Amino acid sequence: MTAPMTESPPAVEQEGAAPPLPWDLAESGAALPPSARPGRSLHGGPRLLRRLAEGQEDRPYELFRLRPLGPLIGAEITGVDLEEPLSARVREELHRALLEWKVLFFRDQWISHDQHLAFALNWGELEQQRVTLTGADAGVARYVKDAAHAGFENAWHVDMTGRPRPAMGFVLRLLKGPRAAGDTLFADAAAAYDNLPETVREQLDGLRAVHDLTATMGPFVPAEQVARIRERFPPVVHPVVRTHPETGRRTLFVNSVFTDRVVDMEPERGERLLQYLFRELQAPEYQVRFSWTAGAVAFWDNRAVQHYAVNDYFPAPRVTERVAIAGDLPY
Ligand SMILES: [Fe+2]
Repeated sequence: MTAPMTESPPAVEQEGAAPPLPWDLAESGAALPPSARPGRSLHGGPRLLRRLAEGQEDRPYELFRLRPLGPLIGAEITGVDLEEPLSARVREELHRALLEWKVLFFRDQWISHDQHLAFALNWGELEQQRVTLTGADAGVARYVKDAAHAGFENAWHVDMTGRPRPAMGFVLRLLKGPRAAGDTLFADAAAAYDNLPETVREQLDGLRAVHDLTATMGPFVPAEQVARIRERFPPVVHPVVRTHPETGRRTLFVNSVFTDRVVDMEPERGERLLQYLFRELQAPEYQVRFSWTAGAVAFWDNRAVQHYAVNDYFPAPRVTERVAIAGDLPY
């Protein structure tokens, strides 16, 4: 949409001497030279790709093979059989790998529900996943996509941020899927934060946002049902930037599916800020793209990444099963 010409100066110029912040330029951007417009070349040149937390040293893994899928995020593990209980040492080393690579992939894991649950239980209590009005047990949730059930996960998001304590992680397995389609992308939300201009990072300090499970349900779910779900799962407030409880990394914690608005900010300006942050999260340098094969498993740290399920296979069938591990209160 082009910015309407008005007789008033852009809001940003009314705020005194401080230089305009990138998201404030969104509406007035058209008047600027291309090099100064948001989303153009603000990030010309290499981005900072810091994989490890401050003070963390890069040590080899001794109990399995880990093949990085890029310099920053995502690694494929071989030499671990998820059918078997994990020894304490393997569990510890996998945990270190999860913190260091944010999402781990395993192939050819023909596991039962019990084995799927047992693997996830190595990381804590399980979480109920379905948004139901009656409540359901925590366990293995099956997701079937086909001509009758289209997937809506093809937007960048963090799962369950509409809850006070979003899940710590997920273990997702593909049972059946299309060949060379239906990939999942994961993005490192700490890298996205690291690369924000310092002026922006300062502005985000202490900012909070409302997350609403029903925020983007509108077009797909009848209004009455949305209202009932909203009553059962009322909106929650999370920091715009969260601190990873184990690595101490600061990560951008707003997402395009569940984040409704920024608290304590005039709605339109808050929306421009969110749009800006969503855009910043999408740099390919922060991403890994995983091509699924039947029996493959992805185990991601939901406190560290965002993800996007590419829906380029509809109406072909795709069946996955997922277990959620309970999380803590973001701060
Ligand atoms: Fe998701």
